[in-house]
Amino acid sequence: MKERSNFTSKMGFVMAAAGSAVGLGNIWRFPYLAAKYGGGTFLLVYLILAVTFGFALMITEVAIGRKTGLSAIGAFQALDKRFSFVGILASLVPIIIFPYYSVIGGWVIKYLVTFTTGGVRDAAGDGYFSEFIGSTGSPLLWFAVFMGLTAIVVILGVEKGVEKVSKIMMPILIVLTIIIAIYSCTIPGAMEGVKYYIMPHMKDFSASTIIAAMGQMFYSMSLAMGIMVTYGSYMKKDTHLESSVRQIELFDTGIAFMAGLMIIPAVFAFSGGDRSALSAGPGLMFITLPKVFDSMPMGGVIGACFFLLVLFAALTSAISLMETIVSIFMDKFHWKRKGASIFVFGLALVLGIPSSMGFGALSGISWKGMSILDIMDFVSNNVLMPIVAFFTCVLVGFVLKTKVIEDEVKATDGTFSGQNLFRIMIKWVAPVFLILILVSYVATGLKIDLGPLNFLKV
Ligand code: PHE
Repeated sequence: MKERSNFTSKMGFVMAAAGSAVGLGNIWRFPYLAAKYGGGTFLLVYLILAVTFGFALMITEVAIGRKTGLSAIGAFQALDKRFSFVGILASLVPIIIFPYYSVIGGWVIKYLVTFTTGGVRDAAGDGYFSEFIGSTGSPLLWFAVFMGLTAIVVILGVEKGVEKVSKIMMPILIVLTIIIAIYSCTIPGAMEGVKYYIMPHMKDFSASTIIAAMGQMFYSMSLAMGIMVTYGSYMKKDTHLESSVRQIELFDTGIAFMAGLMIIPAVFAFSGGDRSALSAGPGLMFITLPKVFDSMPMGGVIGACFFLLVLFAALTSAISLMETIVSIFMDKFHWKRKGASIFVFGLALVLGIPSSMGFGALSGISWKGMSILDIMDFVSNNVLMPIVAFFTCVLVGFVLKTKVIEDEVKATDGTFSGQNLFRIMIKWVAPVFLILILVSYVATGLKIDLGPLNFLKV
């Protein structure tokens, strides 16, 4: 059998996994949620969750991948036949997410092109966004371009594609984030926004804050969808698993925090301190921010840099989604990388069309007020992901026992400093919270009233 491809270094693995984790969720969703759920309080809750819950789950997934050397379907089957369904469900998640994520990736390219061609005024105009996503040809075209770029990297393979691209894009992303955040914080009137973002507001704190933070953390760290299992399967035994996971978390959380510093102060200054401007939901990035860029000196350039950075973040995430799907076909049916990639590209292209057209020609199709894209998002993130994570915890905590994962973590040099934390999380804390998230998300999505368990997903 051909030897499985590997990341060439720890840095390669960390950059690629961080590339997966840092995505639209960090840049668009995190700042908005933080603003909505109590600023500093949300930040604190998120941080605690990331280093406990997120840490335990990510360690588990990477270790499962590295131990079995397989992507999700094969990996769960190899661990315990009765849990094969977990691998299958986990693999469904990227198959659902990849097409619609690429639709949004296409919107980002469109905005990047608009900004680099001097169209900041146009992009700031009322109705620009809704007109664009409501049309048919243009969003489909940019969606295909985005997916084409992703496919090229995946066809190039783990070392020459995924690792190389991540090692170039991720550092540029950090630099751009820092530059824009500094710029944003120095606009007159921005300091109020910084304060609002960082200071805790206890009156905005509730059980929803925890559930919102937990859901966000899941999505943001690309957990429960086989991605970290797949990337773990490309990780060498001599790479220290625990410290790699810590670095990925730091990266992901750091960029999310900086994204808040980029967006919140600028929007605050622009809206004269009106916090409702922050709750523009999906429109924040595509409607409010272009107006903000238009109103500031050098806004065109800053806007172009901003969308370039968002594009890099979205691309590295899409690459991880596609790589995960491709590796499933390669493992399962012994297909060659190129053939599997072309097949997945075609499949996702077809699957993405309804999501793209769901804001225009197909806008008549909706369920419980959700567009086609929202439905995909709901099923994958709010239903499948908690289920997969729950059963992963049960498998590791009670069926296999945590030692299996602990031994894998210790394979490099015998150390695992977060071992006790890991055990408690996987066996007790995580399963309980996962059930809570599932119930709360489903009830909210389907508009069922469960009192305090309801929380509005954004
Ligand atoms: N983690 C990515 C983000 O924060 C989202 C993502 C989800 C990436 C699923 C890959 C797969 O945006």
